[in-house]
Amino acid sequence: MEKKELINSGKVKSVFTTDNEDEVIIEFRDDMTAGDGARKEVMNNKGAYNAVISSKIFKILEENGVATQFIDLPEPNVMVAKKLEMIPIEVIVRNIATGSLVRKYPIEDGTRLEPPIVQMDYKDDEYHDPMLNDSLIKALGIATQDEIKILTEKALKINEVLTKFLKDAGIILVDFKVEFGKDKDGNILLGDEISPDGCRLWDSETLDMLDKELFRKGKDDEVMEAYIEVYNRIIPDDEKVI
Ligand code: CDP
Repeated sequence: MEKKELINSGKVKSVFTTDNEDEVIIEFRDDMTAGDGARKEVMNNKGAYNAVISSKIFKILEENGVATQFIDLPEPNVMVAKKLEMIPIEVIVRNIATGSLVRKYPIEDGTRLEPPIVQMDYKDDEYHDPMLNDSLIKALGIATQDEIKILTEKALKINEVLTKFLKDAGIILVDFKVEFGKDKDGNILLGDEISPDGCRLWDSETLDMLDKELFRKGKDDEVMEAYIEVYNRIIPDDEKVI
């Protein structure tokens, strides 16, 4: 499988066309960014850790009935995936209140949210990913009411499956962000990635952070150790490729 044309270079991943027009090759780079890309560093092997973690999670989700774009991981940092037309919505699910939620609303940090909060933000760094609601989504022409319902249901299902999977690895899924897209037949599939870049993950016992929040807080020297800890806990020894 060969990379052909670069069709999108995001903050941390590059997407290429390939021989098969229904598929893309996604290269996970070693970049780490924060603040809508304002701060950027290179972290050794970060792309590979995220690609392997994301592939594992996508496989677990597939086994539990959530359709994803994942096809294969031919190299540790290279994913072959179904080509999707991405929907510019960041669907965020929150099980514990923290981050922007407690900065913007009178909810105490650490409050357990039952049922979980599902929030949709408009994916656009220039506008700083503003929060959406149903009528804004429709006014912007991003999705229909039926599609909003599908995104919500899928995000909650992902939360249910992942919360259990990570709990078994001694990790609390505090919150996370997912993105979806449509395949050539119009089916909505989970796309992008699920990795410590877009999740808040806390050690179940110590409540230590195991995700990109460390980088956001300037603890750059602790970030890769945390990502590797997540990798070691969720990737069985016979599946380890890094
Ligand atoms: O506190 P902060 O502004 O970083 O974001 P948040 O709205 O509290 O983030 C909720 C969850 O979504 C966290 O797990 C973030 O990592 C994730 N997120 C993301 O991956 N990308 C974004 N653009 C926004 C949030």
